[in-house]
Amino acid sequence: MANQDNSFYVKQGVKMENINDLQNKIIADIQAASDLKALDEVRVSALGKKGLITEEMKTLGAMEADARIEKAKELNILKAAVEKALDERKALLEDAALNEKLKQETIDVTMPVRPETQGRIHPISKVLEEVIAIFGQMGFEVAEGPDIEDQFHNFNALNMPLNHPARQMQDTFYINHDKDNSFNIEDAYVVRTQTSGIQIRTMEVKKPPIRIIAPGRTYRSDMDATHTPMFHQVEGLVIDKTTTLAQLKSCLYDFVKAFFELDNIPVRYRPSYFPFTEPSAEMDIGCLKTKTELKIGAGNDWLEILGCGMVHPNVLRAGGIDPDVYQGFAFGMGLDRLAMLKYGIPDLRTFFEADLRWLKHYGFAALDFASLTGGLSNNGGLLR
Ligand code: DAH
Repeated sequence: MANQDNSFYVKQGVKMENINDLQNKIIADIQAASDLKALDEVRVSALGKKGLITEEMKTLGAMEADARIEKAKELNILKAAVEKALDERKALLEDAALNEKLKQETIDVTMPVRPETQGRIHPISKVLEEVIAIFGQMGFEVAEGPDIEDQFHNFNALNMPLNHPARQMQDTFYINHDKDNSFNIEDAYVVRTQTSGIQIRTMEVKKPPIRIIAPGRTYRSDMDATHTPMFHQVEGLVIDKTTTLAQLKSCLYDFVKAFFELDNIPVRYRPSYFPFTEPSAEMDIGCLKTKTELKIGAGNDWLEILGCGMVHPNVLRAGGIDPDVYQGFAFGMGLDRLAMLKYGIPDLRTFFEADLRWLKHYGFAALDFASLTGGLSNNGGLLR
């Protein structure tokens, strides 16, 4: 803000002798102001608290009535003319300042993407984006849960109480949090062995209808070409009053077709067992396996790709949902496995070796994001 006391008219001893001359002078100064700051100085000098016109106004009180009326009229006309000139000049200068700014900020939209860009999107990030794009289109929301989980959410609430045989299958990493370093398996935390705990966490905070997918890191003590101690899963959960097994099947069928970008893909469901679903199934997709190639969508072989089923009533109860009113389906799949199958990557361990040569080969261009309308894995010919 310009200094209100700094009236250069008063300082310069400009007088009010001829009001027309004065008006011309102020307006000439306004026209000459080359930027908003200079313009404001003129405004303050004329109309500010100690400005020339303001000072003149203050003298009115001591004047004779007739003279006062006459002078007040003149001063008001002067003031209005000055204000009008100030407003006009201000609008002009603001326009000019904006144009100047726009000129400096122009972006050349015809410039090519920087060809030297080296970074690549990891296949797991890419596949996650694809999965979210597909289920997002079907109206699923993305839910999250913590990597370090209590056993209630990771096991108990999923119908897997302590000593349940299914717990042995999961090679769990337990976390000792007892201060005295004693280890009590019953209340130890775990790094989650599955994303299924997010089913419970979602039910705890959300009333049905529920339709979520929950991607995340999961951990098990295991290591070979298709297992790593840390891997990725996506969980799915749908709960409503009339959710059926038929809906589960069509939802997953639509998913695999969209994901593998095939109009037709043979699928089958095999009866299976998961403690948190009843009935439970595993979904296979048709493929052709040769010594050198794996082709998805044709041939006589089958590949298991996910587990699924109708949510067990005990699980609904543990999540605070009445199984006599609501029912639902759930599914879970390995993101890394999906990435290996879709992009022909043979060894899971290589995903986590942080080898730039590998990433350069299997990674995706940074601007190549997945969408159902723009294409899931297609990249518009940018970099790959
Ligand atoms: N949590 C299972 C696992 O880690 C995967 C799974 C199977 C999740 C069936 C589900 C399901 O929600 O219904 O092997």
